[in-house]
Amino acid sequence: MSHADDNQGSRRDFLYYATAGTGAVATGAAVWPLINQMSPSADVKALASIVVDISEIEPGTQITVKWRGKPVFIRRRTEDEIAAARADDSADLPDALARNGNGDATLSADDANRAMDENGEWLVMMGVCTHLGCVPLGDGAGDFGGWFCPCHGSHYDASGRIRKGPAPENLPIPVASFLDDATIKLG
Ligand code: FES
Repeated sequence: MSHADDNQGSRRDFLYYATAGTGAVATGAAVWPLINQMSPSADVKALASIVVDISEIEPGTQITVKWRGKPVFIRRRTEDEIAAARADDSADLPDALARNGNGDATLSADDANRAMDENGEWLVMMGVCTHLGCVPLGDGAGDFGGWFCPCHGSHYDASGRIRKGPAPENLPIPVASFLDDATIKLG
């Protein structure tokens, strides 16, 4: 594939992300001029990351953004949700690993190893069931107060850990960081 083709494909993908976010993804003026001036390789690199405005997310709600073609759940948890997730650290967890792309691969599945911040308010996860890739339903769905995958009945808890059903692993945490209090960067 030539560099020109490469660039074209990337631009198409970016347009898709930009329109798919329904305002949740900050793809505004700061991003476009920069990308337009980049060489193909830098262009591709830039697409690996997106910046998400989280300032409008109320406690107890979540948004879903599309990143690298897949849904990402960004949830702002309530005190009760955090307490429930942390109380379940000692439950019988089918997958004992955190599955957190920001940490060591051997980290345990404790909620503190999966939340983005120390208080556990922010949980950012790939919205892709680890069984066969359906998008789980959220907002306390399922038997464990988290997410439920309707395809074959996988139940995830308030930390996104698999608790019941055929899914083998916890919902994975993507590489993510706070740029400031109101902004998260994915990738
Ligand atoms: S894809 Fe989610 S349970 Fe099968």
